[in-house]
Amino acid sequence: MCGIVGVVSNPSAKDIVLTGLQRLEYRGYDSAGIATLNSSGSIELRRAVGKLQALVTETETNPLQSATTGIGHTRWATHGAPTTANAHPHIGHMGKHKLAVVHNGIIENYQELRAELGQLGATFHSQTDTETIPYVIATALERSAETLPQAVHAATQKFRGSFAFVVMQEDQPDVLTGTRRGAPLCVGVGEGANYLASDPLALAGLTSKFIFLEDDDIATITPKGVSILDGKGKPVDRPVKVLDLTTDLAGKNGFKHFMLKEIHEQPAVVSRLLQSYTNPVDLSPVLPLQGLNLAGITHINIIACGTAYYASLIGKHYIEQFARIPVNVEVASEFRYRNPPYQKGGLFIAVSQSGETADTLAALEHAKAAGQNILVFTNVTTSSMARAADAVVDLMAGREIAVASTKAFMAMSVALGLFALQLAGAKGQAAAEILEASRALRTLPAFLSSQIATTKPLEELTEKLLETGSMLYLGRGSLAPIAFEGALKIKEIAYIHAEAYASGEMKHGPIALVDKSLPVVNLATSTDGLFEKTVSNLKEVEARHGQIILVTDAEGIAKLDSASRDKMHLITVPTVPAFIAPMVFTVPLQLLAYLTATAKGTDVDQPRNLAKSVTVE
Ligand code: F6R
Repeated sequence: MCGIVGVVSNPSAKDIVLTGLQRLEYRGYDSAGIATLNSSGSIELRRAVGKLQALVTETETNPLQSATTGIGHTRWATHGAPTTANAHPHIGHMGKHKLAVVHNGIIENYQELRAELGQLGATFHSQTDTETIPYVIATALERSAETLPQAVHAATQKFRGSFAFVVMQEDQPDVLTGTRRGAPLCVGVGEGANYLASDPLALAGLTSKFIFLEDDDIATITPKGVSILDGKGKPVDRPVKVLDLTTDLAGKNGFKHFMLKEIHEQPAVVSRLLQSYTNPVDLSPVLPLQGLNLAGITHINIIACGTAYYASLIGKHYIEQFARIPVNVEVASEFRYRNPPYQKGGLFIAVSQSGETADTLAALEHAKAAGQNILVFTNVTTSSMARAADAVVDLMAGREIAVASTKAFMAMSVALGLFALQLAGAKGQAAAEILEASRALRTLPAFLSSQIATTKPLEELTEKLLETGSMLYLGRGSLAPIAFEGALKIKEIAYIHAEAYASGEMKHGPIALVDKSLPVVNLATSTDGLFEKTVSNLKEVEARHGQIILVTDAEGIAKLDSASRDKMHLITVPTVPAFIAPMVFTVPLQLLAYLTATAKGTDVDQPRNLAKSVTVE
């Protein structure tokens, strides 16, 4: 999603902004822009549609004067198409005050503000909500505010929605002011120079010291330092965190795409989780849950979006099976608006790779306000969700750069499995079953490694999928979420329409789609007691001449009659205990999506229209 970078007091302001924007490219965007304050105090603006290279070319064709202050932005279009006029920064002026702004989020009441500002003489050049921001701030400066932070404070009282923005004022070199509500913004504390960014990664190599702003904080950076006002306009100190971002800067490490690299990292991610979160002697899970009274939990809501939602569905299976506690799993965008009733003893779990997804964060805040205990599973322990939680489980997947999530999904599934076992232990459930599942988890990294190396049958299949317009994915029990996740992956990066259903649901509607042109991916393990049921569903597809792709283990294959078997495309996975089958079955579906996408030549790491970390509703 959109990215923000700002710098004061650095003679390489332009290059720092462009490098920062390049680091944020992975988040997905469709235009980019930069504004600098030149030595005569004027704002200079350059913007371009498409990849960042277009902006770099623009700055080469129309060079910016030297400057020590700059702001930059990568935009993922919401209000208004991706055009140069809609790209940020946006400029607004009232009287003698001229400002440039970069913004992430949505100003929901922008129509009202536009009408109001229009009457004051504002002229809008874009279709964006963002363009109201500099005008509202300039109006505050013109009317009563003495300083830029005061004007920003006054302006934020008028904005509805979520935002993070940074403002630069003409004739005010080496000062930038930024604020946030619901969307992330941090300060990079440097030596002599200071920075603002939506993600610390943008500032890697410039500083390792970061201040993560709270909602409604207003931070002003100058060469001398950083000053912060809280939401009431009072000076406040926020802690400085030291982050080592060197590993985040690692490149593709010889892989063609970040997605492939991240698929290959999965065995190491799982090993790291097991090493950190299990007792080496008795293998019992030891997640850092000290902030929670596990024995007192009576029911659980798990809230997430997209891939994290599918991992949460696996979590539900584990928790209900082992801890025998009812679990509701829901997409965050629905949960937050249906005013759900909460009961005492409830635990609210948010699952989010980024820890910043707007809908999940809003649902978390709703539950927190209602007095629920909050547990967050996230890959970013400095994120807004982590900071709002009673307990945080770090997913330890390392930064995920590819937009399509793979290793974070794997980490979520494993961490939720460990949570289920720890909760089961606290609830006094059968120790033998818990131990058996813990032992199974120990074997997972090796199974993942061998599965990742098995690409041949998938490559053969990929060729058949190149002309395919639509697919069906089916799975039962804890493999149903894997079918959902597999369909999502092929949609996201190979742009093939795919529907996923719990196998038993097929005959209630989707079977109408089955004909000889429809590839149907079926997931079935011989170890969960549901194999025969799945074979019945396969027969239903076979009877309608659908193209069956069966992902199963050797025992499963042995149970098929040879006539059926010969008509299927078989993807073999190792025979593994049911507890780890979801993770093992995930890998061929990730690779199928990846190989199909690369064969089709799509932009695998930054697929069209998608953003990493969705910070708007
Ligand atoms: C799909 C994908 C998205 C995210 C979703 C939630 O591959 O990555 O569906 O899972 O946007 O993101 P987080 O986990 O950051 O809350």
